[in-house]
Amino acid sequence: MKNIRLGINIDHVATLRNARGGMHPDPIRAVKILEEVHADGITVHLREDRRHIKDEDVKNIIQETFLPVNLELAGNNEMINIACLLKPNAVCLVPENRAEVTTEGGLAVAGQEKKLKPLIQKLKKEKIRVSLFVDPKNEEIEAAANIGADIVELHTGRYSDTISNIKKKELSHLIKAAKIADNYGIEVHAGHGLNFSNVAKIASIKQIKELNIGHFLIGEAIFSGLGNVIQKMRSIIDDARK
Ligand code: PXP
Repeated sequence: MKNIRLGINIDHVATLRNARGGMHPDPIRAVKILEEVHADGITVHLREDRRHIKDEDVKNIIQETFLPVNLELAGNNEMINIACLLKPNAVCLVPENRAEVTTEGGLAVAGQEKKLKPLIQKLKKEKIRVSLFVDPKNEEIEAAANIGADIVELHTGRYSDTISNIKKKELSHLIKAAKIADNYGIEVHAGHGLNFSNVAKIASIKQIKELNIGHFLIGEAIFSGLGNVIQKMRSIIDDARK
């Protein structure tokens, strides 16, 4: 099976920095470690409330790295205009709600095609690849295909957060959704809530080309170092892929 790309979400390096309002820890230092350990990409979420990553961070990261940058943001004109100026390699549209602690569910693509299609076209005009963060549901994948998304990122949050029977069911939804997306010719990514214990089953879904993992790795990095935890995650996903 082909290797899977590992994108690292470094939002929470900025969360820690912002807790004191200074410069430490610097997300750019994390970027340099990601480069050293051969991560495949950097993901950052520019939230409307700028609670972690800020506009200046995205600009600096894009300037300082040779790695592809995947910029997550809400699907509205204001944020799309920012993305068009910053020019990351890819934009992942996510639903956003100011009261949430993290992205709680996938984007409702079905039913919002008229709103989303022009935003996607605007990004593609700037040669930015467009990903939609969706729940593993047939109708969402179909809608994403209809409005020209290049990528769907399957939300693994429900799979990650549940136990036993529900977990099995969620895994079967993810497997099915990955197949459907692949049949439509859309690249399949996945992420949210993944850690050393739950990642293998997701990494072994052969249609998935990229995983985006953040909170767990940044948390573990406190104990073992960022480079070490990325290398451990890489070895788990590569083993699962064999
Ligand atoms: N993918 C998307 C679209 C996300 O919004 C997030 C969380 O910001 C992640 C992946 C990473 O999730 P986690 O931080 O739980 O690994």
